[in-house]
Amino acid sequence: MDNIILIGFMGSGKSSIGRYMEQEQGYKLIDTDEYIEYKQSDTISNIFATKGEEYFRNLETECIKELINAGTLGAVISVGGGLPVKVENRELLKELGKVVYLRASVDTLVKRLSGDSTRPLIQGGDLRTKITDLFGKREAIYEEVADIVIDTDDCSFETIFAMIKEAI
Ligand code: S3P
Repeated sequence: MDNIILIGFMGSGKSSIGRYMEQEQGYKLIDTDEYIEYKQSDTISNIFATKGEEYFRNLETECIKELINAGTLGAVISVGGGLPVKVENRELLKELGKVVYLRASVDTLVKRLSGDSTRPLIQGGDLRTKITDLFGKREAIYEEVADIVIDTDDCSFETIFAMIKEAI
């Protein structure tokens, strides 16, 4: 069985849907952020602060390559919101499985991300402006790499999962 890869902006629900699929639907869950933090014995915030974003992006590429090389199959793989931005990563994602873009509106993202202190790219300044700018730069990329696009605003985990299953 192909892997199901969840992509989307920070706060789009990738980790939550991934956890639902693990706990309620019996999938093996791999979360690239958690994988990187575990392997580096460090938090993402600290990796960004001490080694920089480019270093983190290379860790993301390594992570996807490791999953491909390990022959990972039948898992749900939730990937960091910026991972598909690198062209190389987009090609690797397509190799790894079916790519599902969990799309959420800026309003939803602002609601979900307000008060977050763990994501370096949205700290400081006006949250809505930051999200609008970054989402604007990434939207077309998410759509390009996706096999399936799911609009998730106001949908329950059950509904989102049913839409994923129907589409793949
Ligand atoms: C990032 C998203 C985060 C994490 C890092 C960078 C991004 O993951 O990888 O903070 O560039 O969008 P989530 O999408 O799981 O929040």
